[in-house]
Amino acid sequence: MKVMVVGSGGREYSIGLALKKDPNVTELFFAPGNGATSQLGRNVSYRTYEELAAYAKENGVELTVVGPETALVEGIVDCFRAHGLVIFGASKAAARLEGSKIFMKNFLSRYAIPTARYIETSDVKQANDFIDTLALPIVVKADGLCAGKGVIIAKSYAEAKEAVSDMLSGKSFGDAGRGVVVEEFLDGYELSVFVVCDGKDYKILPAAQDHKRLLDNDEGPNTGGMGAYAPTPLIDATLYKKVEERVVKPTLLGMQQENTPFEGVLFIGLMIVKNEPIVLEYNVRFGDPECEILMPLLKTPASELFYKAATGDLKNLTIEFLDRFAVAVVMASENYPYSSSKPSEILIDQNAHSELEHTHISYAGVSEEDGKLYATGGRVLLCVGVGESIKEARDRAYLLCGQVHFAGKQFRNDIAYQALRQ
Ligand code: AMP
Ligand code: GLY
Repeated sequence: MKVMVVGSGGREYSIGLALKKDPNVTELFFAPGNGATSQLGRNVSYRTYEELAAYAKENGVELTVVGPETALVEGIVDCFRAHGLVIFGASKAAARLEGSKIFMKNFLSRYAIPTARYIETSDVKQANDFIDTLALPIVVKADGLCAGKGVIIAKSYAEAKEAVSDMLSGKSFGDAGRGVVVEEFLDGYELSVFVVCDGKDYKILPAAQDHKRLLDNDEGPNTGGMGAYAPTPLIDATLYKKVEERVVKPTLLGMQQENTPFEGVLFIGLMIVKNEPIVLEYNVRFGDPECEILMPLLKTPASELFYKAATGDLKNLTIEFLDRFAVAVVMASENYPYSSSKPSEILIDQNAHSELEHTHISYAGVSEEDGKLYATGGRVLLCVGVGESIKEARDRAYLLCGQVHFAGKQFRNDIAYQALRQ
């Protein structure tokens, strides 16, 4: 089977790695890919989804897997389907679950799915009145896609009100901030639950935990994610059941009722408060870095999972995962997440890969020139370790971190700490 992966990050690289080792896959394409995906398959540049769909048709691509939310929200799935192509991902209508926080919050309340108490508005006074009823800190969210930056956790009433007025005036996020959600702060621990769906049936993947803050001990600014591990012991069978009954089932039923059945992978960001799952957000795609630890654990051939989900055939799939743990540590460039850094060459100790079984690198913000790889993005690459325990996987990932070099590299030293201190 010829498969195309849309996107250019570590998430797409890890999907590519899983497809590469799948015996059903004969050829791989990445659109647009990065400086390292060209070692796994062919990088394809494109301007429009129409153009990419035409390319996929001409080249006999039988399955396309979409990584990033932007493409989904912009309607890549609808476009490919109109051309009769098989594509794994959410339709434009279903992608509103991530594309609009107002849509998401109203959806949650329509179907009585637990979420933080909120107001959605584009009126400053209404927002401020609600702010005055909340305890500190207060959460303010821009409605539209803001590359993970549209959430402000305000420590004072003044800060919350300023965030609202900066958003509504268009000052902070342009049109994406013309509507806001203001909500109560939830104090608990976060979990990422991924559900592969075909519109009717679903498969829940092992729960993962991301580390959003830049620095150890969850300090510093929020980032796209600095590392993750799975499966996490922070969820047990009882909590899984609650998540399935109170969140997964009503979400998928709700989407069916609204004639926008959910297909692709639903990423449910949960805050667990006193053992109760509360939805922080939905995303309509794999998390990054969570994908980089779920893919190496997947035992079922990746092409079968994505193809069956994309063709409404999940009921005929038994999804299997290795009885192992995976830990991924993100190596970011010097100025991440504030600004870009000067490109620097990536050097890997010569015997790293041969000596370190059960580890690999998932490449993200890299480019290639004359056979050399350069760190060019914010999140440059991930060191992934797989092991019989979280500790073993973590130790392997960090061993690899010590063998990868580029100027200004930064990474957290405490990925998986919550699981290891249990
Ligand atoms: P979101 O994009 O909505 O997931 O928000 C990004 C991050 O902000 C989440 O991963 C949480 O760490 C934090 N966050 C969002 N909403 C809340 C909330 N109501 N209470 C506490 N933290 C929140
Ligand atoms: N890891 C969080 C995200 O992908 O949004």
